[in-house]
Amino acid sequence: MELLEKIFANAKKHNKRIVLCEGTEERTLKAADIVTRDAVAQITLLGNKEEIMQKAKALGLKNIEKTRIVDPKNHENKDKYIDALVEIRKSKGLTRVEASKLIEDPLYLGVMMIKMGECDGEVTGAMHATGDVLRPALQIVKTLPGISVVSGAMIMILKDNKFGEDGILVFADCAVHPDPNERELAEIAVATAGTAKAIVGFEPRVAMLSFSTKGSAKHALVDKVVNATRIAKEINPSINIDGELQADAAIVESVGKSKAPGSPIAGKANVLVFPDLQSGNIAYKLVQRLAGAEAIGPVLQGMAAPINDLSRGCSVEDITSLIAITVNQAASK
Ligand code: ACO
Repeated sequence: MELLEKIFANAKKHNKRIVLCEGTEERTLKAADIVTRDAVAQITLLGNKEEIMQKAKALGLKNIEKTRIVDPKNHENKDKYIDALVEIRKSKGLTRVEASKLIEDPLYLGVMMIKMGECDGEVTGAMHATGDVLRPALQIVKTLPGISVVSGAMIMILKDNKFGEDGILVFADCAVHPDPNERELAEIAVATAGTAKAIVGFEPRVAMLSFSTKGSAKHALVDKVVNATRIAKEINPSINIDGELQADAAIVESVGKSKAPGSPIAGKANVLVFPDLQSGNIAYKLVQRLAGAEAIGPVLQGMAAPINDLSRGCSVEDITSLIAITVNQAASK
């Protein structure tokens, strides 16, 4: 079975509650219709009910009436949520007046619904920049215990199956943390190995990427990757990881053998951890565009609840896939 088929099949077994904050957005509505029809997830749409139902009718979407619709401006739990938000952000001095405004913002309401146990996960971002989607999540849901950094993995499905795990590689961080320090980079590596195992279902072989392989160059940026590799092993001694490796040494067997002989990872990595967000984000977009790879995600990792951000250029299929992934993440919690 193809990877996405497996992810959808598993999602149907769990049918978790997923909130879509951009309830009036056309691609979001179409995706909500499909996943409701196929019982992949129980969908909550945020937005004005009348507007949503009018759009659904105009688009000929028959299943939107089976979703739950919550209007951020007017719903039964509004006061309860405002009180809870003030409590969560009291150390930051959030006032009730400020919280009353924030709770009318669907991006804050969606995260609060997860925090209050009304939903299991969120998929948003068809109309909003990544930072705007992530900020409420980072402020309210925060990170998993023992994790200090949230990051974003891309599942890259290549046309050429000689790379990675039968053509599949997991890249990170491609989405969140601009400039991780060595400890944060180590956490990103450990989290990405976890995502590869939990969502893609393979045994991770993690390469910590750099412009140097095993000391071929000397620079503070190389030291950061070497130290992050060591710290990742301290965090999780069973992790199968090596670095620093150049990208060719990580994924091409012959290059791996010549540049990093004896490495358990060189030439056969299926998880690539980039030294910072610039390299990770640029790399995934180049592989997607130049090599025609399918890029699924970003799958956010390290967050205390599954909240995933869409690209504003996303298709309906991208949204349905990310909903199914989010259900899988919620189920594996
Ligand atoms: N992990 C965990 N917590 C974090 C992280 C992180 N990576 N980054 C920020 N936080 C926390 C902060 O500690 C803070 O918590 P607090 O308010 O309880 O003290 C809260 O989040 C807000 O932090 P700020 O510093 O105020 O938020 P900032 O404005 O820096 O926003 C953000 C954080 C949104 C993640 C920012 O770093 C960002 O915009 N990253 C880049 C996103 C992006 O544009 N990605 C590329 C596009 S995605 C794609 O192409 C697939």
